[in-house]
Amino acid sequence: MICGMPFTRRSFLTSAGAATAALSVRLSAQAPMPGGPPSGAPAVVAANEMYWQQVASQYRVADKVINLEAGYWGVMATPVAEKYFRQVERVNRESSYYARRSYPADLTVVRDRVASFLRVEPDEIAFTRSATESLHCLIGGYNRLKSGDAVLFADVDYPAMQNAMKWLAERRGVRVVRFGLPEPATYENVIAAYDETLKKNPDVRLVLLTHVSNKTGLVVPVAELSRLACSRGADVIVDAAHSIGQMDVGIPEIGADFVGFNLHKWIGAPLGVAVVYIKKTRLSDVDRMMGDEESAAASINSRVHTGTTNFAAFLTVPEALDFHVRVGTAHKAARLRYLRDRWVSAVRNVPAIQVLTPDDPRMSAGITSFRFTGRGTRQDVERVVDTLLTKYGIFTARRTGIDGGDCVRVTPALYTRPADVDRLAAALKEMGTAG
Ligand SMILES: Cc1ncc(COP(=O)(O)O)c(C=O)c1O
Repeated sequence: MICGMPFTRRSFLTSAGAATAALSVRLSAQAPMPGGPPSGAPAVVAANEMYWQQVASQYRVADKVINLEAGYWGVMATPVAEKYFRQVERVNRESSYYARRSYPADLTVVRDRVASFLRVEPDEIAFTRSATESLHCLIGGYNRLKSGDAVLFADVDYPAMQNAMKWLAERRGVRVVRFGLPEPATYENVIAAYDETLKKNPDVRLVLLTHVSNKTGLVVPVAELSRLACSRGADVIVDAAHSIGQMDVGIPEIGADFVGFNLHKWIGAPLGVAVVYIKKTRLSDVDRMMGDEESAAASINSRVHTGTTNFAAFLTVPEALDFHVRVGTAHKAARLRYLRDRWVSAVRNVPAIQVLTPDDPRMSAGITSFRFTGRGTRQDVERVVDTLLTKYGIFTARRTGIDGGDCVRVTPALYTRPADVDRLAAALKEMGTAG
């Protein structure tokens, strides 16, 4: 069931908008992966369809719908998926003999590669299985809070992390401050909102920031906000689940001492691969996980304890990074922005449509959310998501928990074609006119 209705390819193909959507079957054969993007500024290459068709041909994606919900996780490109399947087979074949004897050294090589990509020291990162696990280790483990301090988060933050911040009231005896970011958001009013909230709450000692909101796609200026928080005596934990790989940033640009994210969204690694970053000089500010070995206290690995992981997934990370880097981090970011700008510019001035994510390149990336003006209830937004799917063959997601009301999230991927986002824009205009 999708959105409360039975959904089959057959029923979809017989529905009103299906004839056109059926044309969106991915017909292109896999072309050789280009050695890298053509020369030119990323913003110019972003519109080079020849190049992006070659990149898109590296993905095998289902043709049932136009999937504009790439924010859930990132499909592995075919070379990455093939490597992963080979690794699954190898790990299964070689079993504990491999895992006990060779895997630790192999994983060290993978960790070094990831650290170099992120531009940090290898001993500043540890692997986890999800961004949630990474951020829980940071929020739960951060040990500088005293009873009577306060912690701060905003409406756009990820629900599980908001819950963890709230739980600090029980765990550490702190006061919890939650506030809503302004809508529409601007670079200036977001900084001003944090500034004002921190001023009003001088006891805040820990701030959660979500670099790219999973709800609205809003990019918050994390480096500036980290400096602001630091000047007020507060540390910052950054949820970078949607920024690493979607934006052209590494840890230095994020500018925080504690960061959690996964590699299965925007790096396109297999599901179940994530990273926790703790700046070397701040390791002692995070507790060893559940009393992990004291002898390992000097290692970040004692801050998170996952148990047995999916070895094959971790072993595939270099392949995912190779693909990501070959496409070009800056070029990928520019292409996602190009696709986003294309549909947003077509509907931005339609009075019935409220695009929540600013056009300011400092405040948005590939993800953007909207709602029909004044229609932010759960039912309103569910109806829009449902109509987009059943009438136009476009798959999106409802996001909730924003003070201004629910919204529809639109997330393109590297296999998204301009025609896909044009179809979305046309559908929205039609729906806006229909009332
Ligand atoms: C902003 C944000 N943080 C954290 C997460 C959790 O990621 P994971 O599923 O890897 O735990 C998500 C997942 O959608 C997210 O969007």
